[in-house]
Amino acid sequence: PATVRLAVIPGDGIGQEVTPEALKVLEAVSVPVKFEQTHYELGAERYLATGEVLPDSVLAEIREHDAILLGAVGGKPNDPHLPPGILERGLLLRLRFELDHYVNLRPSRLFPGSVSPLAEPGEVDFVVVREGTEGPYTGNGGALRVGTPAEVATEVSVNTAFGVERVVRDAFARASKRPRKKLTLVHKTNVLVHAGSVWWRLFEAVGREFPDVETDYMHIDAAMIHMTVNPARFDVIVTDNLFGDIITDLAAAITGGIGLAASGNVNPDRTTPSMFEPVHGSAPDIAGQQKADPTAAILSTALLLEHLGYDGAAAAVEGAVLADLTERQGAGERLTSEVGDAIAARLS
Ligand code: NAD
Ligand code: IPM
Ligand code: MN
Repeated sequence: PATVRLAVIPGDGIGQEVTPEALKVLEAVSVPVKFEQTHYELGAERYLATGEVLPDSVLAEIREHDAILLGAVGGKPNDPHLPPGILERGLLLRLRFELDHYVNLRPSRLFPGSVSPLAEPGEVDFVVVREGTEGPYTGNGGALRVGTPAEVATEVSVNTAFGVERVVRDAFARASKRPRKKLTLVHKTNVLVHAGSVWWRLFEAVGREFPDVETDYMHIDAAMIHMTVNPARFDVIVTDNLFGDIITDLAAAITGGIGLAASGNVNPDRTTPSMFEPVHGSAPDIAGQQKADPTAAILSTALLLEHLGYDGAAAAVEGAVLADLTERQGAGERLTSEVGDAIAARLS
């Protein structure tokens, strides 16, 4: 069979616990291809021991793979040896930026069997297309007179016509392939007028190429009302990097929790390996205790399989997760590895 070169970066905290479960499932699922794995130990431990975050040579190696599976990145809060952002920016964002993962795909579905905190969530099945390479994430900013009463800090949002147009076009293309064919632009054009203007204009312009897609627009604040009161109204959402980050934690919370939310950092042009990871972080509060739900990591492998064109295998993984979710109600607390075992067992 053909081989897929898979770079595996378990990372920090529960990333080390959920990634082996995702790999178990990937090994159990029937797929006409052999996964050849390279494991990379990157994250807090390596940084604290060597000062290395993502050496150029390692990035060059990772680039030669067909796809990347990542666990989570980030150390314990307020660790004096690990300033905030070192790993988040230096490892995770560097991978997203260098590999040009301009579509950060974050689907939210309320699977039968998973429990929403909303009394009447309805049928929730939407996908957030979060821009992945620009916005306030670029590190464009600085600080003056740090630590003085006259300190000034800026964090400038970068929105290029090129960057906005390509992610908006991708979102339209995805919407046009879905049954409801609806796309919502979420932004804050009433206040962030410079960025808002380029998003709005390109949304309208690209929309003319997709007359079959029904569009609407919401300000980010109001979108959060709708997502809480009537999340079933959404089909595809396109938004910038920071809004997309925040929206997708709420989206996870209303569809069964952050332990179920999967994501793909996708380069639709396929010039680089795309990277699949749970939406959640390293969860220092529960790390090392086998308490983390590996379902988000497992569903991220379904996105990976789909991206590589193995739709049958992706559907099988989703089916196994769905069956597991339906049966977990009665079950007591299970360890991370027990959830992985149970889902893998349904596949083999
Ligand atoms: P987090 O997602 O790690 O945790 C938020 C809450 O959700 C915690 O209470 C945690 O216990 C819970 N949680 C998360 N994943 C879970 C799972 N699989 N099963 C059960 N409960 C789960 O977010 P945070 O606390 O804001 O961040 C912790 C660290 O992770 C920080 O260093 C942050 O920078 C980093 N982070 C990384 C990523 C990533 O790698 N993509 C994402 C978010 C945060
Ligand atoms: C996520 C995380 C990251 C983000 C951080 C850790 C850089 O919160 O993947 O959602 O903001 O994109
Ligand atoms: Mn986030």
